[in-house]
Amino acid sequence: MTSSTLLILSVLVSSCLSISIEIGNLQSVAVNGTLLCNDKPANNIKVKLYEEEAILDVLLDERFTSESGTFEMSGSKSEVTTIDPKLNIYHKCNYDGICVRKISIMIPPEYVTNGEKPARVYNIGEINLASKFSGQSTDCFN
Ligand SMILES: *[C@@H]1O[C@H](CO)[C@@H](O)[C@H](O)[C@H]1NC(C)=O
Repeated sequence: MTSSTLLILSVLVSSCLSISIEIGNLQSVAVNGTLLCNDKPANNIKVKLYEEEAILDVLLDERFTSESGTFEMSGSKSEVTTIDPKLNIYHKCNYDGICVRKISIMIPPEYVTNGEKPARVYNIGEINLASKFSGQSTDCFN
């Protein structure tokens, strides 16, 4: 193969890739809230916003809670169907085992906006991480 054929091929491949990525409607979502541990603000807690996919979830945003335990995240993604965003919280409140405790919270579809800017914020309110959650698991890779 000549180098010009290779160039044409790689241009073709990359344009196909970018087309497939842009298929669907651009949708956006925002989430915020306050995390507590034993009624005190839980600061520096890792929170992640994911789009749930069949194979591998796509990370949309990642933050740490503030001094007062608050956080706010947002992200957008193109999908043919409505996106399935979820919030993951990774904490060690009342937990001294290995790794961290993970809490997953699905964001309702009513809070997904068509377009780049989220029209509303899904406010999870105050969550006390000391509580027992049914959706809680241990996570070592985050
Ligand atoms: C979350 O967002 C709502 C709406 O923008 C706002 O009123 C509220 O104060 C925010 N909460 C936090 C903890 O940032």
